[in-house]
Amino acid sequence: MAESSAAELPHPLGLLAELTHRCPLGCPYCSNPLALDARETELEAVTWGRVFREAAALGVLQTHLSGGEPGARRDLVEITAAAHAAGLYTNLITSGIGVTASRLAELADAGLDHIQISIQDSFEAAADHIAGYQGAFARKRALAAAAVRLGLPLTVNAVIHRANIDRVSEMVELALRLGAGRVEIANVQYYGWALKNRAALMPERAQVERAATTVEGLRARHLGRIVIDAVVPDYYARYPKPCMGGWGRRSLNVTPAGKVLPCHAAETIPGLEFWSVRTHSLAEIWRDSPAFNTFRGTAWMKAPCAHCPRRAQDFGGCRCQAFALSGDAAAADPVCHLSPDHAQVAALAAIRSETSYAYRRMAGIG
Ligand code: SF4
Ligand code: FES
Repeated sequence: MAESSAAELPHPLGLLAELTHRCPLGCPYCSNPLALDARETELEAVTWGRVFREAAALGVLQTHLSGGEPGARRDLVEITAAAHAAGLYTNLITSGIGVTASRLAELADAGLDHIQISIQDSFEAAADHIAGYQGAFARKRALAAAAVRLGLPLTVNAVIHRANIDRVSEMVELALRLGAGRVEIANVQYYGWALKNRAALMPERAQVERAATTVEGLRARHLGRIVIDAVVPDYYARYPKPCMGGWGRRSLNVTPAGKVLPCHAAETIPGLEFWSVRTHSLAEIWRDSPAFNTFRGTAWMKAPCAHCPRRAQDFGGCRCQAFALSGDAAAADPVCHLSPDHAQVAALAAIRSETSYAYRRMAGIG
């Protein structure tokens, strides 16, 4: 086990609860795995309740109730109440489809602390086009208004890519009009389904640079009104991000069927052994499961990470991206300019195509 004696075992802070993979939207940048969990395999609310209590006992402070679209769960109120009863700060991550204003009021009564609504663009036609769902934009706006009426803190999450990156300013203005206290400008991450659409979604370097300048200006202009979170997209960065704050260090993901992953894309790495909350406690999984220990700490690293002064800062970047781009999950994340595979990243970023998006359709998962 890498750097994980009992004394050194870190405490997780966050739990991503993927309540379902079902989702009415068809976003081409969906980061859910290619093989989705079917409805019949989803964990029951009572099991989620146990998972939340075990998470709280492990030191977890907050849970993100996510999907897919968590609103697809009929027992979402019960699940939220269980997370709240366990003492966790609860954040609902929703597309805005499948959660009505009255259901949101029930969720707030059940203890929901925060809501995050994704937007696909700053204007309706473009937003509905990328979501692959007519009418999605209007429903998101309505849910945001309901959240503000209920006094729920609201974050707007805007996923950006080549078609909308030039409207960062308009998206921040929209978040302000919706009453959000925070807006996350999230670049598409190319795992799972999103990899299929990389050439259609990849922005140009000049666009990325313009957007970074725009964000700086917006931060100064809106200081004290809204918090703007944005990071340079991986493929144009010099160093990688410390993905998940380090593997097996800060958070756990529980899939709809109960597998516990160190990150949402971990199943893309072949050969990892994941344990399930159906057969093990969360504490056992955190401490002993092979998947969590494979890349925990820094002892697993090879050159150039093994002796790099940044190794305990970025943990070698993202394991899933290292595998996707180099075929070796233990390699340095190739977005790092010190990686021997770095040239490949620039070559991939340069591949663009204007072909239409391959939408993510959830047919067949009930
Ligand atoms: Fe991070 Fe590894 Fe690059 Fe060093 S060599 S900056 S540890 S990815
Ligand atoms: Fe898996 Fe980054 S998404 S380690």
